[in-house]
Amino acid sequence: MKFILCLLVLTASLTAYERPPSVGEAQWDFTAPYFLPENHSAKPILDKLFSKDRPTASIEALYDAGFKKVSFNEKTGMYVMRHSKLKGYVIKLYTDDWAGVCDWCMWVKRAKGAQAIRQAIDAHGYQNSFDVPQKWVYPLPYSTYPSNAIQAKDFVMLVEDSEPYDFFHNSLMWHSKLVDQTKLQQFHTLLNEVGLYDSIYIDNVPFNKKGKIVFLDTEHYHEWPVPLQKVANFLTKRMAAYWFTLF
Ligand SMILES: Nc1ncnc2c1ncn2[C@@H]1O[C@H](COP(=O)(O)OP(=O)(O)O)[C@@H](O)[C@H]1O
Ligand SMILES: [Mg+2]
Repeated sequence: MKFILCLLVLTASLTAYERPPSVGEAQWDFTAPYFLPENHSAKPILDKLFSKDRPTASIEALYDAGFKKVSFNEKTGMYVMRHSKLKGYVIKLYTDDWAGVCDWCMWVKRAKGAQAIRQAIDAHGYQNSFDVPQKWVYPLPYSTYPSNAIQAKDFVMLVEDSEPYDFFHNSLMWHSKLVDQTKLQQFHTLLNEVGLYDSIYIDNVPFNKKGKIVFLDTEHYHEWPVPLQKVANFLTKRMAAYWFTLF
């Protein structure tokens, strides 16, 4: 019995997140509610992927570790990556050679944005038409911290893979009968109520394989006024005319 207890304590201490000296206690406590739960099935996979060498050192290091690029934002430095060992998820991250970003601020913002959108979808009962991926913050293992990086990052973000359609097919879906007056009313309600300032671009609100519109980019929320007129850019003429009657 004593042996099993010791083993349990040892396992827990081996997998517990460790605050690096570069993260203040206040910042750690602020971010902790959004951490990937330590008993989540993806946690051991992430531990394995991120504890060998330093995959987040650069894009080359990410490729060497088997990550594949989904997207890179040249303005913000954020990568979206997939890994074959991490089926069903994508990782959002900044590499250690990108300077001037507060990673915990950005990840908490995106996690809170996703929560706000989920609450609104649930409150209105729009679950059949709209979705938002789950998002968690994953603290990088301190043992891998580089001593001479431009700005070693402390966290990455694990996000459910929403399996969005590519730009071409998504555009077809937004021009199809799937987008009717009811869907536009609901979309308008969510944008306005949650202040989804950036969800007026087609690539931030793609259709997914389940036929739902997914709020992928949750960085901007509670930001008003939302430039609603931009949604008309990816609607049919008839639906664009209806859209303008909503505000
Ligand atoms: N949850 C997700 N599942 C699948 N692909 C995603 C997911 N989140 C983002 N992506 C892909 O990465 C791209 C950029 O992500 P996004 O959050 O919009 O970042 P940015 O702030 O750079 O615009 C998206 O357009 C999409 O192609
Ligand atoms: Mg985006």
